[in-house]
Amino acid sequence: MLNKIKIKDKILPFNKSIRVSGDKSISIRCVLLASQAIGKSRIYNLLESEDVINSLRVIKKLGIKYIKKKNFYEINGYGLDGFLVKKNLTIFAGNSGTLARLILGLLVNSQNKVKIIGDKSLSSRDFSRVTNPLSEFGASFSNKNNKLPVIIQGTNFLRPIKYLENLGSAQCKSSVMLAALKTDGKTIIKAKKSRNHTEIFFKNLNIPIKVKEKSNYDYIEIYGKSNFSGFSYDVPGDISSSAFFLVLTLLTKNSQLTIKKVNINKTRIGIIKILNKMNANILFKNKMKYKGELVSDIIVKSKSNLKGIRCSKNINSSAIDEFLLIFLAAAKAKGISTFKDLGELNKKESPRLDIAVQFLKSIGVKVKRHDNDIKIYGNPKLDLKGKYVIKNFKKDHRIFMMTCVAALTLGGKFEIYDKDSINTSFPNFLKLLKKLGAKLN
Ligand code: S3P
Repeated sequence: MLNKIKIKDKILPFNKSIRVSGDKSISIRCVLLASQAIGKSRIYNLLESEDVINSLRVIKKLGIKYIKKKNFYEINGYGLDGFLVKKNLTIFAGNSGTLARLILGLLVNSQNKVKIIGDKSLSSRDFSRVTNPLSEFGASFSNKNNKLPVIIQGTNFLRPIKYLENLGSAQCKSSVMLAALKTDGKTIIKAKKSRNHTEIFFKNLNIPIKVKEKSNYDYIEIYGKSNFSGFSYDVPGDISSSAFFLVLTLLTKNSQLTIKKVNINKTRIGIIKILNKMNANILFKNKMKYKGELVSDIIVKSKSNLKGIRCSKNINSSAIDEFLLIFLAAAKAKGISTFKDLGELNKKESPRLDIAVQFLKSIGVKVKRHDNDIKIYGNPKLDLKGKYVIKNFKKDHRIFMMTCVAALTLGGKFEIYDKDSINTSFPNFLKLLKKLGAKLN
């Protein structure tokens, strides 16, 4: 069967309630932290996507056993020194930057060398952003051009570090936090704002950590090495997966959608803040705290009078995976939207800023770009008539799903390649679209 879909019709109005699958960032952290706990952990609603399955395979290769029970995964850890690293071990991180970068943090004490490899997309991404700080702990690395494969040799003589994380990258921050967990003494991190699931997890597991939040940076202190016990965790829905349905609903006439039990951590809801500033009226209902994370139902209705936005760059990191969709909303809004300092978008699974600009232009949207800043000239009457073939986007799951939303809301006839890319983060995506009435071939 061909790995592409055809979309010829806009989706018709809908009024439904859905649940999206578990949060990817939290799922990967659950697996990795359970691998470091003493005893059994139980994880409910773990996202069963390739990035997370690869995380499970990686810990298994490092000697950690897990089993899938009826509605949870059970992972049996042996504490902070519990990995069993065989000689000449190679581990495969697939498409996942989060897995590859976080596991390196956990391997700083490895007695044998471990080689990390990934797929084509991951093998083109920068790893110096984590190997530099991890070398300061005392680990050694060999690699070419700062890319995968990376070989790590850990040490017994780790020393705590002071680290400035200046990219707003939660992967870099978390990799260092996990290395700090394995290191006696106090590691001090000053980190530009980014998602804080690792910090919340540490607190929740009683790992000694102090966090002071300032306006642009967080100051974090971690005291290693402190073992912790197995835990139980019920992963909330993924806001990044929900985002496709938020924009789908906004841009479809006379529709309403409730998305149940989504993680709405304040470091993740940039997209909702941005869309609401553009005139959307996205609401939270049944908010509750779960182990330090905020979880809520999200209610969204169609909006035909979206307006442009001057988006503050301070919000970038809390919407980092959602800009493709925000650009789509901006293309349908009245007036000009501006976005600044989006260089990190080009460091993702594909060069997303380049591809987004190219895509918007190809569907007739006026876009001006200056370095990493872009201006989108919105057009509420945007209604496509042509035929559009979307391929060669490095199999980036989020590009595939964004173009599906474009096809279902803007008209035109679309042929979108690399359907399998959804397995990276959201295997249920097309099933949920069908549930809302989308016609997909
Ligand atoms: C993630 C952090 C972000 C994000 C990625 C998941 C995480 O990457 O884009 O999808 O789980 O820590 P960066 O740390 O590179 O910004």
